[in-house]
Amino acid sequence: MNEHHERGHGDHYGHLNHGDVGDAGHCRAGHAPADWDALYAESDRIWSGNPNGALVSEATGLTPGTALDVGCGEGADAIWLAQQGWQVTAIDVSSVALDRARAHGEGAGVAVDWQVTSFMGMPSRDSRFDLVIAFYAALVKDGGATLSTLLDAVAPGGTLLFVHHADVDREQALEHGFNPDHFLDVAEVASALDRGWTIDVHEIRDRDIDGGAGQHHTRDVVLRALRSPVL
Ligand SMILES: C[S@@+](CC[C@H](N)C(=O)[O-])C[C@H]1O[C@@H](n2cnc3c(N)ncnc32)[C@H](O)[C@@H]1O
Repeated sequence: MNEHHERGHGDHYGHLNHGDVGDAGHCRAGHAPADWDALYAESDRIWSGNPNGALVSEATGLTPGTALDVGCGEGADAIWLAQQGWQVTAIDVSSVALDRARAHGEGAGVAVDWQVTSFMGMPSRDSRFDLVIAFYAALVKDGGATLSTLLDAVAPGGTLLFVHHADVDREQALEHGFNPDHFLDVAEVASALDRGWTIDVHEIRDRDIDGGAGQHHTRDVVLRALRSPVL
């Protein structure tokens, strides 16, 4: 396991005024699907369109199987996984984002199962996946149910990759009316991993980003964990 540099609650929601695109609209009054749709409708493209560097570095070398992208946004990560041979299910609450992701996937000539749905409150999923990724997913803390669903979505022997920004100003976020404590963060996910898991990576690292609304974030907290093959 790599050295642990976790700084506690990430402040991945700040830096914006209302009306800015910035951090996925985290500073907006609500986080309902309509709020995310409104964010995505502000521009033809919100994010960089490139696969996340942490995804490329952590997933390269894994044997492709089934994958779930939680909060896939405009789909760059899901498309990259599909291009590597993964059978990808990608979910997001925003139909605007999903329409865009679907079009990008078609343009790239890959098949992804795009689903407009919320991960929140889903009891237990019918399927488990060899790889579950969640990049900057705004999953509200709900007493542990969503966290359990997230962990349970990983098949025995599968991998969880959970990433958030490490360099957001928490005080600024609070000033904008957004409380990061209300959202699932990397520290909470890591602390929920019991003996049935091996944490391979849990560290803050620089992120390589070229364009998109989140490019002012230069550091991420990256968690990669392997679920035991035997439950
Ligand atoms: C900050 S964006 C990140 C998008 C993408 N993962 C990326 O890295 O570019 C967060 C995404 O999570 C989606 N989202 C928010 N709440 C969700 C939920 N409960 N279930 C599924 N997706 C959700 C939003 O619509 C948005 O696309």
